[in-house]
Amino acid sequence: MKVNNIETVNKIGENVVLKGWVNTVRKMSKMAFVDLRDRSGIVQVVLIPSELDEASQALMTEIKPEYVLEISGIVNKRGEKQINPDMATGTVEVLAKSIKILNQAETPPFEIDNEEHQANEELRLKYRYLDLRHARMANNIKVRHAVIRAMREFFYGQDFLEIETPFLSKSTPEGARDFLVPSRNYNGKFYALPQSPQQYKQMLMVAGMEKYFQIVRCFRDEDQRGDRQAEFTQLDVEMSFVEQNDIIALAEKIVAAVMQAVKPGIKYSLTSMTYAEAMAKYNSDKPDMRQDKNDPNEYAFLWVTDFPMFEYKEGDKRWGAVHHPFTALNPEDLHLLEKKELEPIRAWQYDLVLNGNEIGGGSIRTHDPKILHKVFEVLGHSDKEIQGKFGHLLEAFKYGVPPHGGIAFGLDRFVAILCGETSIREVMAFPKTSDNRDPLMDSPSEVDQEQLNELGISLKKK
Ligand code: AMO
Repeated sequence: MKVNNIETVNKIGENVVLKGWVNTVRKMSKMAFVDLRDRSGIVQVVLIPSELDEASQALMTEIKPEYVLEISGIVNKRGEKQINPDMATGTVEVLAKSIKILNQAETPPFEIDNEEHQANEELRLKYRYLDLRHARMANNIKVRHAVIRAMREFFYGQDFLEIETPFLSKSTPEGARDFLVPSRNYNGKFYALPQSPQQYKQMLMVAGMEKYFQIVRCFRDEDQRGDRQAEFTQLDVEMSFVEQNDIIALAEKIVAAVMQAVKPGIKYSLTSMTYAEAMAKYNSDKPDMRQDKNDPNEYAFLWVTDFPMFEYKEGDKRWGAVHHPFTALNPEDLHLLEKKELEPIRAWQYDLVLNGNEIGGGSIRTHDPKILHKVFEVLGHSDKEIQGKFGHLLEAFKYGVPPHGGIAFGLDRFVAILCGETSIREVMAFPKTSDNRDPLMDSPSEVDQEQLNELGISLKKK
């Protein structure tokens, strides 16, 4: 078994076997220095011909960046002057006794050891497996893992059930455009990829699961920006027998657990204001509450509450739900629904904002099927449409639905901010380009005529 590079600092005087990639190689007249990289970090290896066995001596000249090596050697303490304080293993170096080339590597299309010379995004995504070798990217992936782990451990500790919900679902109007999946068995019919597990998690409450969470992929066919991808990840939560303050208190504990895991010792602020206050004071529903926006380690969380339930969509000339139609109306404003005075109706909706970014949102849900039906109606759905699109939920709500509510965190956004990144693409292993392509797998791509025939699909000539 190999020793991780980082462990060499605790193995002075010991023989070790290291395995990893050549980050850099500097050849001097006779000797050479290799910075060997593995997941744990980089360690300097010294190659001196007189110290190496014969076979290894012959290999010395062949070593190039990104070659995969196995090195056996002895860990030595560096002299006072040779100590490199910028390197985690800067107090030691490994004197090689033998080398094996486990694999060769072509010259990469961009430099791996030099962040300054990072390539353009197209190239980075085409060779994402090389891009992820950059120290910053590898660290982002590790932070993401640490966040997910902290979340899971938190929920396991609170007696939540982790439940998976389907990806092959049904197209329902939830806000964004759906991704459709054609059915082979039922030509002309389509599944839709879920924009979120919203309706499933509500039906899990009807089922009596009480405390649900899931770290789940969501799909929305929308134009991408720095903080949006068509495919992204949510930490999705739902609970029965709760009120708004219960969900808010729970979410604050999740925030604390995540901050403790990845930013231990760093203080953060957490405040709250209503939507009306935010708009009046900051003209934004996600104001940035940081004192000093240049301070990289300042984290200002903010709850925005009491959102309006409805908004008029000028483009479509109709009313829409600000969050989603399943959100509960503030009972004080319920009488306005009958009168169809929609604008002033407040919802039990809350958004969590971090440094001016919406990193989460949720609501208490309407659990009275009559009110839910009414909401669908004022959103402009006919009775037939309501049955076709939401009949399953209204049916479920006939059989004893508990009061319930929940929240979903945008995991990619949360992690991006914790990593100091401006785009969520920097914290996803395999994101798409801003125009929704994957240069690595070259998707979307054409498919065989045979596949189309099976699905009963014929393409229009362009
Ligand atoms: P909402 O649509 O507000 O709520 O989504 C919750 C959080 O997910 C993140 N998010 C995104 N992240 C990356 N790319 C996207 N395209 C994208 N869209 C949203 C945001 C957002 O705050 N089912 C409800 C939650 C609930 O009511 O419980 C929902 O999906 O950070």
